[in-house]
Parts: sequence; structure tokens; C-alpha cells
Amino acid sequence: MIGMQTPIIDYINLLLETVGEDSGEVASYIPELARADPDRLAIAMATLDGEVYVAGDCDVEFTIQSISKPFTYALAIADQGLDVVLKHIDVEPSGDAFNEISLDPVTGKPRNPMINAGAIASHALVRGDDAEARVERILELYGRLAGRPLTIAEDVFESELSEADRNMALAYMLRTAGTLDGDPTDVVRGYTRQCSVSVTVRDLARMASVLAAGGRTPNGDQVIDSDVNRQVLSVMATCGMYDSAGDWLTSVGIPAKSGVAGGLMGVLPGQVGIAVFSPRLDAHGNSSRGVRLFERMNRDLGLHLM
Ligand code: DON
Repeated sequence: MIGMQTPIIDYINLLLETVGEDSGEVASYIPELARADPDRLAIAMATLDGEVYVAGDCDVEFTIQSISKPFTYALAIADQGLDVVLKHIDVEPSGDAFNEISLDPVTGKPRNPMINAGAIASHALVRGDDAEARVERILELYGRLAGRPLTIAEDVFESELSEADRNMALAYMLRTAGTLDGDPTDVVRGYTRQCSVSVTVRDLARMASVLAAGGRTPNGDQVIDSDVNRQVLSVMATCGMYDSAGDWLTSVGIPAKSGVAGGLMGVLPGQVGIAVFSPRLDAHGNSSRGVRLFERMNRDLGLHLM
């Protein structure tokens, strides 16, 4: 490969060739994810003008999982306004695991929209006549960001819903605390559908590039308002990597979001959207080779914003 294509493609191929041994396990609490091929490896970089550079298993589809959370948060803010959303969900890093069953003891709200509690609350704030209409609007937004229509991996959805007790517990807790309107079962079903949207690294890199461009697609559509976009990137920077957010911000230094299927998306504002896919996860539920790839890119390219 090396020497035959553009320097960027040479570079990202080199990254995959030299990333080294993998560690960790694929997520097992969602049965269908446990069946994923653990050795898949892919990377994509999307520039703001719509160019996407890819290497590895770049056309393999996997579910977006928690990488959906920042986009749904954006839609909730667009629908309700930031003040209303802030009345339901805080923006403080939790230092806890993504599925921690807790609310802030002082405010009684989920600590941020990147952990499951806050993401379930964000999902419920998206407008829609019913649960399915909410999911349709979410899918429509994701498709505009990815530049192609996206669909739901029904097998992963069914599988995750069959084991969704913990998220159900979170939704009932939110309702008791007064931060969730609507039926918790419907909301968790919709949230689980949101997490089961099927994407490739190309899609995620392109979605990240829209965030990098202040919410504007390469065709010039302002899909996310620039103020909302800034709110989303800020929350990704402080909370996107859960209880390793501090490590991430110091060692890589850009807003990012991981998903339990092995996707990891990073945003270098004004420059590029980057996505990697490698299903084995570290102890925080983040792709372990994905984190290493971003650390290496930071060393080579100086991604760090600080
Ligand atoms: O709600 C869940 O547990 C999953 N649908 C998403 C979790 C996730 O992706 C955590 N991130 N690394």
C-alpha cells in the first residue's frame, strides 16, 4: 500500500499496521455484540470539504451505541432549547462508569448526557408524537450527518432490549426523580433503537467532520446550530470517555465519544473528523486499540487542543 496513494492514506495504513497486539474483550452484556469478530480494525479521516480517507475494515458495519449520544443531545437541545435541557441533565463529568445507576445527590439530575442515565433523558426530550416518531427523527438527523440514509441493526436491537434491565432501572429512576416524562419502557426501547443504528467508520468520520465544521455538512447545510454544536463538543471533551475522560483529555486532547461495539470518534475542531473501529474494549468500555491509535495520532500529528 505504502507509496502508492496519498500521504494520508499511507499514514493511516501505517497506523493500522503498527498498532500492535490487542487486549481486552468484546462487550458481552449485549449477546449479539459478543458474537462480533474481535479482530476487525478500521480507521477513517474526513475533512470538512467531504473528503474521506479510509484504511482497514472500513466498510464493515457495527452499531453506533454510545456514539449516538452527542447527536441525540444536539437534537434535544434544538427541540427544547438549552435551558430546558439543562433543567433535566447536568454537564458535569461523573467519573463513574457509563451505566452507573446514580443521579447527582444535590441536583437530582443525571450528571451528563454521555452516561446512560443522561442519554436516556436526552432521548426522551427529542420531539415526536410517539416513541417511533422520535426514533425516526433521530435516524433522519444521523443520516444527514453521515451523508447517507442509515438503518437499525434489528438483531442487535432485539438482543440488547432482551437484556435492558439496567437501562430500565435508570429510566424508572429518572421518572421518580422527575427528569423523565413519558413511559420508561417506551423511552428505553427508543434509546436502544438509537444505539442500534448501523454505521461504518466512514459514516462516523463524516459525522465527526460535521461537528468539526461547527455543525455544517460539506454541502453547506447547517444541520446543527453552531451554539448547540459548541455545547455538544464541550460535553464530549469533558465526559465523552466516561471515567477515563481525564486520561483522554490529557493524552489525546480532543472531544471524543466511544461506543461499546468498538467505535471511537474524535473531533479536531476546524480541521477533521476521525473514527476508528476495533471491538475489544478496555476496562472503561472504550475500544482499546482505538485509544492507542488516537494517542499515536496525537504524538504524530499534534491533535491536542491545549
Ligand atoms: O446503553 C447501553 O448500555 C449501550 N446501548 C451503549 C453503551 C455504550 O456504548 C458505552 N460505551 N462505550
